[in-house]
Amino acid sequence: MNVVYHPAEHEDTTPWRGALPARAWQQSDARSLSLNAPYRFRLSPTAAVEDGDAFASPDFNDGKWDTIPVPSHWVLHGYGAPAYQNINYPFPVDPPFVPTENPTGDYRFEFDLPKEWELNNGKTVLRFDGVESWYKVWLNGKLLGFSTGSRLPTEFDVTSALGEKNVLAVRVHQWSAATYVEDQDQWWMPGIFRDVTLIHRPAKSVEDHFVHASYDHTTGKGTLKVDSNPAGRVIVPALNIDQETGTEVTVAVEPWTAENPHLYTGVLVTDGERVPLQIGFRTVKVDNGVITVNGKRILFRGVNRHEFHPDMGRALDHATMLQDVLIMKQNNMNAVRTSHYPPHPHFLDLCDEYGLWVIDEVDLETHGFEIDGWKGNPSAAPQYTEALLNRADRMVERDKNHPSIIIWSLGNEAGTGNNLLLMSKQIKKRDSSRLIHYEGDRSCEGTDMYSRMYASHLEVEEIGKGIEPPLDDPELDAKRRKMPFIQCEYAHAMGNGPGGLLEYQQLFEKYPRCQGGFVWEFIDHGFEKTTPEGKKYWAYGGDFGEEIHDGNFISDGLLFPNRDPSPGMLEYKKVIEPVKMTGDASKGTLSIYNGYDFSDLKHLSLWWKLEHNGEFVAEGGIDAATLPEIAPGKTGEIKLPVIAVDGKGEFWWTFSARLADKAPWGEAGHEVAWTQFPAIALPAPVSAPASVKPVKDGKTVTVGPATFNAVDGQLVQLGGIKVDGAKLDIWRAITDNDRGISFDTKRSMADEWYAAGFDRVHHRIDSVAIEGDAFVVATRAAPAIRNRGLRTVYRWTAPDAGSVKLSLSVEPEGDWGNLLLPRLGVRFGLPKDLANVEWFGCGPNEAYADTRTAAKVGKYAYTIDAMQTPYVFPQENGSRIDVRWAEITGSGPGLRVEGEPLFALTARRWTTEQLDKAKHTTDLVAGDNVWLNVDLKLNGIGTGSCGEEVLVHDELFPAKHDFSFVLRPLA
Ligand code: GAL
Repeated sequence: MNVVYHPAEHEDTTPWRGALPARAWQQSDARSLSLNAPYRFRLSPTAAVEDGDAFASPDFNDGKWDTIPVPSHWVLHGYGAPAYQNINYPFPVDPPFVPTENPTGDYRFEFDLPKEWELNNGKTVLRFDGVESWYKVWLNGKLLGFSTGSRLPTEFDVTSALGEKNVLAVRVHQWSAATYVEDQDQWWMPGIFRDVTLIHRPAKSVEDHFVHASYDHTTGKGTLKVDSNPAGRVIVPALNIDQETGTEVTVAVEPWTAENPHLYTGVLVTDGERVPLQIGFRTVKVDNGVITVNGKRILFRGVNRHEFHPDMGRALDHATMLQDVLIMKQNNMNAVRTSHYPPHPHFLDLCDEYGLWVIDEVDLETHGFEIDGWKGNPSAAPQYTEALLNRADRMVERDKNHPSIIIWSLGNEAGTGNNLLLMSKQIKKRDSSRLIHYEGDRSCEGTDMYSRMYASHLEVEEIGKGIEPPLDDPELDAKRRKMPFIQCEYAHAMGNGPGGLLEYQQLFEKYPRCQGGFVWEFIDHGFEKTTPEGKKYWAYGGDFGEEIHDGNFISDGLLFPNRDPSPGMLEYKKVIEPVKMTGDASKGTLSIYNGYDFSDLKHLSLWWKLEHNGEFVAEGGIDAATLPEIAPGKTGEIKLPVIAVDGKGEFWWTFSARLADKAPWGEAGHEVAWTQFPAIALPAPVSAPASVKPVKDGKTVTVGPATFNAVDGQLVQLGGIKVDGAKLDIWRAITDNDRGISFDTKRSMADEWYAAGFDRVHHRIDSVAIEGDAFVVATRAAPAIRNRGLRTVYRWTAPDAGSVKLSLSVEPEGDWGNLLLPRLGVRFGLPKDLANVEWFGCGPNEAYADTRTAAKVGKYAYTIDAMQTPYVFPQENGSRIDVRWAEITGSGPGLRVEGEPLFALTARRWTTEQLDKAKHTTDLVAGDNVWLNVDLKLNGIGTGSCGEEVLVHDELFPAKHDFSFVLRPLA
């Protein structure tokens, strides 16, 4: 016997066979039948299934098979498991071949044709909106064909196979020649994961249609032409349009923009069908090196969105798609890149309706070829030309009627190659009304814009100034230098962070050429798992037994897997707010800058509040109608309310711009932008002089309410509170961004900090003495091996009988090179019943030096548990910045910490070391102490997990630092 396995049919790069030409996504009055349902299912370990194609026969007995929902991924329904790799292929790279172990799902579904179905009128097509990765289809035993292109539709003509009673059979291979071009950074999740629909195509129904709707901002008129095959009429009642398809008409219209997504409802009528139209008039261009829509430069406040849901994977329901759009709108985003494939078509309907600029991306990534120097890369391989052109064609044809799509993207991280250029030409030929994007070819041949991912602030600034390093080819260089620039990915939202968003935004707002960017990415792709003890956690790469994987790199979104916002989301919302307000109490004015590209501010009203030391003083509203008219790009001014304030304590104004009325995407009162500023110059901090002297009594020394061990100088008691391990602390649990290797400096903070031993510092006591008013403990804090250390002097004094002040002086010695410190402060172990924290300072959420734009001065009360940010991979989190005072209380005596003037505050139920070791949230177990960190500063966060490290001004250098605060036990 001679068994030849390869090449098998799924190892042929031919994209499809038996399929109908791609056409526009439409829903019409033609009959359709959803075939989403539980299907009979079995999984085989290899593509060569034991009984061959027998299952496709209508007579096949599937009685013993399981059932599985369609749409879904079988790996989320008990068959195998999802697997995560970022760049690498999970199998040897040898295109177009794939492993013999190739999970293969057979699906069977029996359905009756509704009686009203007119089998004799026209034809019927069977549509698959998404199947990963290679599938073959039979209806009633008749082979219809096969297809690839996981996130693209395929239609088969089933007219001759269809009967009253039907058996649909589909065979899906997880791996195929097509897998080589679907190497996106996400979970591998095979299956029929989008809708399956039977669609009647009556005689003379619309084969395809293309809505061309442009806008001329100089005349205020829109031009509409709808191409249709066969021809018919186009009716748009609101515009009094009733005309032949294929003819052009120009009328006065309201244009479509992401800010004001004006859609005209129309209908395309042929003799066989009525197709509803949602028409948005807009014109996209590159004008003078700048992307314009309707004649205006636009600024992308964007995000990259993968389709993900922790239960459904990529088989999203409509409710989740709407939720995503609403979250984007409510967080001031105006743009989405559908990374890295065309999304479910309904998502694009929502983008049209609610208003988001869309970069629609071809389902293409070949990143795993990079490791072998891009050898054999499908983007350049003739054997993949047809497949790639097919993918571009199917995206454009499906999505061409969405006004929200203004840019087609050729794919992601697919290297360079002629196939990409051919795709670009093909798209331009079919649709010259949109721009072309591709990041992977720095020469920008075949694109309309210069795009980068994770370019540093410095590089963005150079590009903004037009002084970026040249390309080798002078012609291409000259062309690129005149192009607009976007960051198709930046600010990697992995774990704590991203830091430095504000500085990016400032560059985008400063340089016309820099038209914003798309944060990577929208959501953490985490699946829920349960420990043997029944505790739930979010699983990531490696938690499903993958042979190779990329760990928690899959967890890098602005949303947690359950779509709760992370602090990064709140920060991004604030940084990109479309209205910027700046108050000046000395002049009694608030200036308001309209940062929208098109809108006035009539939809916003202002609300203000005055607080004194975090306590309410007064509030009021300023009605939208009474605000000055401020055109986009312009600034207006209003007078501050007149309220007398004195110099005692802190008076702060808060101004908030809110939706005056309910918008489609947000409730009336929804906050769009805000600002805060002091109502009067902040009082200078007054340092209390020592008034109570230290007293030595046998083995202890007391300083006011504090008791110390007289031998080692250790603080042991504060009033009625037992204190553990109060010491200088420079360590923090490594963040994802600390761990990353900066693209620019090639540094990894984590590597440097572990190598330096900052996680294993020893404290040598050099002297313990009472010196006048102070109890002074001199130490040297240093890790083993090197000569570097921190001379640390603790000076304890008592401003009064009820409080003790610590003045800490830290001075580096030895060889520090260019090392930075993770943090600098003092850690205290307190009794675990101290579970509540109230503070006056910035909040309510965590904030670090470079993630603090969204932090507001105020008085906040949280439990310690609520102060933790549950990052999927545990890491430093929860620090509150610029705290003036904090009270930590429980059932027994509490403690008040007063800054001189400010400190950063962290409180948790585990130590930094425990946090640093944890791999999942369930590894964090409350101990016998509450650990309080009172910090002078922490190193900033940066975006080094994929991008650049902390900007210099937010770094924590090991210089001489002096820091003091007061501890006051509460009865
Ligand atoms: C980019 C890539 C994304 C994602 C990101 C890191 O290079 O395009 O798909 O992998 O890096 O999370």
